[in-house]
Amino acid sequence: MPRYAHITGWGHALPEHVLTNKDLENMVDTSDEWIVTRTGIRERRIAAPDQTTASLAADAATEALKVAGVKPTDVDLIIVATSSPEHIFPATAAIVQDMLGATHAGAFDLSAACTGFIFALNMAAQAIRTGSIDTAVVIGAETLSRIVNWQDRNTCILFGDGAGAFVLQGSEEPGGVMHAVMHADGSGADVLSIPAGGSKIPTSADTVAHGLHYVHMEGRPVFRFATRVMAEATREVLAKANLTPDDVDLIIPHQANIRILEVAARNLKLPMERFMVNLDRYGNTSTASIPIATVEAVAQGRLRRGDKVVLVGFGGGLTYGALLAEWTGPFPDHPEVNPERYRLWARVRSTGLRLKRKVLAHTSREENLGG
Ligand SMILES: CC(C)(COP(=O)(O)OP(=O)(O)OC[C@H]1O[C@@H](n2cnc3c(N)ncnc32)[C@H](O)[C@@H]1OP(=O)(O)O)[C@@H](O)C(=O)NCCC(=O)NCCS
Repeated sequence: MPRYAHITGWGHALPEHVLTNKDLENMVDTSDEWIVTRTGIRERRIAAPDQTTASLAADAATEALKVAGVKPTDVDLIIVATSSPEHIFPATAAIVQDMLGATHAGAFDLSAACTGFIFALNMAAQAIRTGSIDTAVVIGAETLSRIVNWQDRNTCILFGDGAGAFVLQGSEEPGGVMHAVMHADGSGADVLSIPAGGSKIPTSADTVAHGLHYVHMEGRPVFRFATRVMAEATREVLAKANLTPDDVDLIIPHQANIRILEVAARNLKLPMERFMVNLDRYGNTSTASIPIATVEAVAQGRLRRGDKVVLVGFGGGLTYGALLAEWTGPFPDHPEVNPERYRLWARVRSTGLRLKRKVLAHTSREENLGG
């Protein structure tokens, strides 16, 4: 029986503190008018001193697990996509695993800049489809405010903090994550990076004096790249399912710049209404932007069971990718949706898992015996 990976839970965590364009006018030589016309961004959230990438990730994941009706101890895998990890190592995902009490989960970080959430979702879905795991939590989480230079008007106006998470669960019901495309063009690695603090240029007094531990970006080449690949990746993933842009109910793009989204919409010959946009309120939250936008799309009633949705993004690397999913929502046996059915389903599921383990153990014993 083929297996499918369904998105059954979602959650987000947004710091309370709002930094407006007006506030930025007092920090760097910029204006609300310049920022709004060039980017569409009006405000962004900034993490409180006691909030970190892991704490925001854990908050978003807790909300997502609640929506799915899944216990942390039932999670097999946690992937945190992030561009602002807590440390070079250990992985932020391992810290999140401990915060959640997900005692049976493996955990790792995925680094693909702003495209990271799409890549992570695809990896987790593949693991579920092959039968190697049943339940995954995929998180995009950032505290970019800690790694941008607040004196650099080219970058500090763009970014914000936050986290978003999905729960993925396996089932034999068709649907969920259908196709994905993942791309990279490392020849553009220099146009968006944190130059120092890694193993190539370790942190020193000199690197700090030159601000090389902050995000550096050449805006124009990134803009050109983004406007090219958003429509390209969307078409490519749809072609895998023999679909056209018209067949898509909602596109949830990486929220970097409204002008980039307008070009993508034009290239796909779709109205802007088909795009979920909330970058005006949160700025670019890198890996977190797609799951945060998804949570808001659900809250606004823009995603219903059976809808076809494309997640599409680009970022440092340079990387880009797109993922096509059929929206599921919590399994019908969710405890709050139908408590009676949930109890029955939980019994059937655990019996099923016990049987599966027995069959697997039997098969590997046969293989070991050369049977
Ligand atoms: C960053 C970006 C908004 C800049 O817009 P742009 O139209 O390309 O602007 P430019 O970089 O050409 O700069 C135009 C002028 O505005 C100035 N400027 C830059 N930032 C400014 C700011 N915050 N406020 C006021 N002026 C600013 C520049 O210094 C330049 O001045 P000059 O002509 O005197 O040299 C745009 O290039 C962009 O969105 N790029 C993609 C970035 C992105 O998405 N990154 C994340 C990837 S995941």
